[in-house]
Amino acid sequence: MLVKIGTPKELFEGEARVAMTPDSAQQLQKLGHTCLIETGAGALAGFSDADYKNAGVEVVKTAAALWKAADVVAKVRAPDAGEMKRLRAEQTLISFFSPVANEKEMKAAAKKGATVVAMEMIPRISRAQKMDALSSMANIAGYRAVIEAGNNFGRFFTGQITAAGKVPPAKVLVVGAGVAGLAAIGTSTSLGAITYAFDVRPEVAEQVESMGAEFVYLDFEEEQADGSSSGGYASVSSPEFREAQLAKFRELAPEVDIVITTALIPNREAPELWTEDMVAAMKPGSVIVDLAAEKGGNCKLTVMDEKIVTDNGVIIIGYTDFPSRMATQASSLYATNIRHLMTDLTPEKDGVINHNMEDDVIRGATIAHANDVTFPPPPPKVAAIAAAPKKEAAKELTPEEKAAAEVAAFKAQTKNQVTLLAAGAVLLLGIGMIPGMPASFMQHFIVFVLAVFIGFQVIWNVAHSLHTPLMAVTNAISSIIILGALIQIGSSSVLITILAALGIFMAAVNIFGGFLVTRRMLAMFQKS
Ligand code: NAI
Repeated sequence: MLVKIGTPKELFEGEARVAMTPDSAQQLQKLGHTCLIETGAGALAGFSDADYKNAGVEVVKTAAALWKAADVVAKVRAPDAGEMKRLRAEQTLISFFSPVANEKEMKAAAKKGATVVAMEMIPRISRAQKMDALSSMANIAGYRAVIEAGNNFGRFFTGQITAAGKVPPAKVLVVGAGVAGLAAIGTSTSLGAITYAFDVRPEVAEQVESMGAEFVYLDFEEEQADGSSSGGYASVSSPEFREAQLAKFRELAPEVDIVITTALIPNREAPELWTEDMVAAMKPGSVIVDLAAEKGGNCKLTVMDEKIVTDNGVIIIGYTDFPSRMATQASSLYATNIRHLMTDLTPEKDGVINHNMEDDVIRGATIAHANDVTFPPPPPKVAAIAAAPKKEAAKELTPEEKAAAEVAAFKAQTKNQVTLLAAGAVLLLGIGMIPGMPASFMQHFIVFVLAVFIGFQVIWNVAHSLHTPLMAVTNAISSIIILGALIQIGSSSVLITILAALGIFMAAVNIFGGFLVTRRMLAMFQKS
């Protein structure tokens, strides 16, 4: 049975996003699926029913009809009570779900025999980046936070010297350099503001600096929080660290014009980082945008979903719907996230869903399946994008013990390699002894086996997060085969010439493609 994917109109008040766009629908159809949309569902995001019809989507009159017809329902906000009633056995729901807050609904869905994929549960591993809706939405929120701050700030971001006078540049502080924070930093520096940023994860300092902002360092020695163990997110820092952090912010408060706070540790209330006395120390007309408003705010004066002005004239913005305020962009990115998820759920591209619970990403995001609650998921098998955690035991070892451990590890590794080589040699010898085996074949075969061995040894130790840039460069380098093709192209045999020309063409695609991707990756870290 081929699958029908349907997207209803969002019911949450003020929500303008939609989980399917005409573009994403076209891609979904290529996977063999049929697409349905409730009439008017895309209107607030700028997509009309006619746009959907032109993209081959069937427009359904009512939400009830859509829920009835669709095998997979894709939406943005967690289902409300009415939608929960409509959810049925064998149906798959893909949406944000807040499984901790909506435990009751999660259990109800499991009991019904429905499958629920919660978009916020997509693990933060490299392979899943294209499905990571939290990141794509946070990126928009970070951008919009700066635009909103600029809208409420009475001055330019960039410094100017004009005939009418000198204008100092605005100073922006971004607290928390995760996805939203980095987007805010990028937007703020490109508008010309002097931008400072702080995060508890020291490894982001380089990223912050490469975007043209200044990382705020603390005079503090601590094993700082390391994101990798908790799926790419930060963990809680010590009270002493917090004090040092607050002292630094107190020092900065009278200087900065705009503060954008995005600090959050998953499944916790947002830490209070911008205290009342800091707000009081700010200049009138300064702006605070508190992206963590939904989780209590990084500033306790923040009022969720509102803009307030304090007695000393500081504007505090606590909107929680920044992505929805850019609904067209947000819908395109979210719909693309869903489309990629559907691609993983339809491995054969034959319109048949294979809900593979062995797959890290699918397993991680599925919170109800086959009549069971499958939340929380086991930790992903692949390490998160952030740096690898330091080994606990290493801290306790004396230098001598450490050296001994390193020698032992080296010996074990060498033994392993020697065993592999010996086994390989015996195998090669065996193949060589097969009667009638041409000498030239053996020569090429040995080079091939050695290349596989060395390649494996080199790639195996590279961190998962570096695979994409590594592949981009090696793609270019491995295309050394172009030399072989160039030598052969002048051959007297037409067949060889054609093959060589084909070889040159393919290798050239690899070389140029490789360098192009590498260039694009490097450009992400360069200031224009
Ligand atoms: P993230 O997890 O990528 O980033 C949070 C960052 O805060 C991490 O880099 C973490 O190390 C840092 N952090 C944690 N504790 C800190 C502390 N005490 N001091 C300094 N930094 C600290 O999260 P993401 O995706 O960037 O989202 C950031 C915030 O934006 C979240 O609160 C999220 O809910 C919110 N958000 C708000 C939206 C809105 O419309 N208002 C829309 C999307 C996201």
